[in-house]
Amino acid sequence: MSAAAPAQIIAIPSKRRSAEIVPSDRMDDDAYLGQFIPLHYHGQMLSDEGRISAFQEAIEKLIPEDAHVVELGGGTGILSFLASKRARKVSCIERIPHVAAAARRFIEANGASHKVTVFDGDARTFVPDEPADVVICEMLHAGLVREKQIAVLEDFKARHEAHFGRGIPLIIPEATILAVQPVYQPYDFGGYVAPVPLFFQAGINSGPTVELGSPEVYAIVEYARETPVDFVFDRLMTIDSTGTINALRFITKNVVGIFPKEGRSSDWHMNYMSIPLPEPIHVTAGERIRVRFQYEAGASMQSLGNAISATPWRRR
Ligand SMILES: C[S@@+](CC[C@H](N)C(=O)[O-])C[C@H]1O[C@@H](n2cnc3c(N)ncnc32)[C@H](O)[C@@H]1O
Repeated sequence: MSAAAPAQIIAIPSKRRSAEIVPSDRMDDDAYLGQFIPLHYHGQMLSDEGRISAFQEAIEKLIPEDAHVVELGGGTGILSFLASKRARKVSCIERIPHVAAAARRFIEANGASHKVTVFDGDARTFVPDEPADVVICEMLHAGLVREKQIAVLEDFKARHEAHFGRGIPLIIPEATILAVQPVYQPYDFGGYVAPVPLFFQAGINSGPTVELGSPEVYAIVEYARETPVDFVFDRLMTIDSTGTINALRFITKNVVGIFPKEGRSSDWHMNYMSIPLPEPIHVTAGERIRVRFQYEAGASMQSLGNAISATPWRRR
């Protein structure tokens, strides 16, 4: 069956059917690396109250009234719409034409088209017609894998500086904090065992996962500063409970806006991402283990999965 599949694909007459077939090497960048988010995925993002309220508060409190706001990766346009309530002008760029078209319709229907312009195009080459006072960019994924938040923002900051001779005063979100935790993750699905990446709502009732050690922060990414390209972790972690570690939980907290006068921030906790270890290890409370991984920001989850390890550590 599997051996016959490639021959079938090659045999399909290209004139009639080629549009339905995407060669796997061309799918990598778009489908696997988080650049292709069609409209039918946006409902979940719009329904995520924790995400929307964190951005709404940051936008309301931090955007100056005469600001020019640039949104990179505008999706359905919701953040540009929220920004338009404060800003003088919003330039929103979206790469997927049917999503950009939907954003334009929604912006119009919500009475904001006099302030928001939605551009079709790639944020990695976009230059606005005037300097940006605030940039909004939500190309975030748990662990900062897949989506291109860091690369797109680094490119835009450099282009902005080159064109306008100045940096960007404010970027929303302001920062992302990344942590990792050793866990036991059940992978039994109706008697079928399949260790695959899993996502759970962040918080105390976070599904069936068993925490075997405390989380450790491995990166604080501040978007207005120079951001890291790679995340490298090689540390000894102390185990709190006896059990089997078969996965690492990646914890991602976005600091969307910081309000110094109030001494707090609006935060968005993304889903916990649980990545199975290639080799589970048995551990006892008090023991230390060596946990290692290395991945590029925006890399595929598969490459993260291939790069993680946890091994027993004994003092020599
Ligand atoms: C996670 S969604 C967020 C959408 C919207 N900002 C929101 O908060 O609902 C990221 C959006 O960025 C778009 N995108 C990804 N890479 C892009 C790029 N290089 N240039 C422009 N848009 C991009 C995607 O198509 C998607 O609509």
